Amino acid sequence: MTISNKEARDWKQIELTQDIEKDLKDRISKGEGPDQTLWDAMSYSLLAGGKWIRPLLLMLTGLSLGASKEDLLPFASALEMIHTYSLIHDDLPAMDNDDYRRGRLTNHKVYGEAQAILAGDGLLNLAFETMSDSCYDSAKVWDHDKTICKLQAMAYMAHASGAKGMIAGQSADLMSEDKTVSSQTLAYTEFNKTSRLLMSALYAGAAVAGAGEDVLDALENAGGMIGLAFQIRDDVLDVEGTLEKLGKMQGSDEKSAKSTFVSLYGLERAKKEVFALTDQALEELRILPGECGESARALIRSLAYRDH
Ligand code: IPE
Ligand code: IPE
Ligand code: MG
Ligand code: MG
Ligand code: MG
Repeated sequence: MTISNKEARDWKQIELTQDIEKDLKDRISKGEGPDQTLWDAMSYSLLAGGKWIRPLLLMLTGLSLGASKEDLLPFASALEMIHTYSLIHDDLPAMDNDDYRRGRLTNHKVYGEAQAILAGDGLLNLAFETMSDSCYDSAKVWDHDKTICKLQAMAYMAHASGAKGMIAGQSADLMSEDKTVSSQTLAYTEFNKTSRLLMSALYAGAAVAGAGEDVLDALENAGGMIGLAFQIRDDVLDVEGTLEKLGKMQGSDEKSAKSTFVSLYGLERAKKEVFALTDQALEELRILPGECGESARALIRSLAYRDH
């Protein structure tokens, strides 16, 4: 079972995927002595070959608006660390209880539940070490404007991934098991658990580039729709996908009797909704100029058709 990061990607995306991979590898310590297992567990999931959609979108957005790779990479890597921690915890027996992720056994299946919880904690903390170091680097050379831009990006990610963001969505998701929730509750759940990190990708990339309020508002709006489309497509693939393609078990939502867009409205309506949301998001994203803007739009278009 292999999942390629580079499938159907243009040259810009392939180049950036390599940059992200190198940056992530550099930030994962080898671990020696007593902390060996912890770092092995952290790198096991982080470098397992996820799609890296969030860091790629952050890089493409920031580059399109004039930021440098060097300034963007710590934020791209941090976002992937936060996302990976959320997946390690999402798979735990106490949550979705899944055995496969990114084409391999889940973290707790290999390292045990205790180390998997700590690997998630470690990645979440490493994300904020990475971003705060980058802010401090700019502050040390008295680059006031860049420091503020980076702090703005980090603050946004902190809120988006917190207990009024992604974590709240995960909590609502678990509370939806074994019952049929209202359309408002479902929208709240999917928006928080998934859109908030995709909004972070666009917003943080633009904030590091020093973008103004109008651009940030438009990107947040687009990110919200991209996230909903992404989660609804994930819900569709949970029904129609295969372990071989997805790298995770199909049927996880049904197994835990989750309320999803598919369980509430059916497959056909779900698929239509993915395309409608994607089209609206692409309209907003016309504000991203140049080759990187084009590449960001192509990546988002491809997500509506993805099979993994
Ligand atoms: C899975 O995210 C969790 C959801 C929000 C649906 P991805 O589909 O981006 O997972 P990876 O990072 O490629 O493994
Ligand atoms: C998880 O949603 C979203 C997160 C914030 C981790 P799912 O539970 O549907 O994600 P998968 O299907 O396990 O990847
Ligand atoms: Mg879940
Ligand atoms: Mg899950
Ligand atoms: Mg799912």
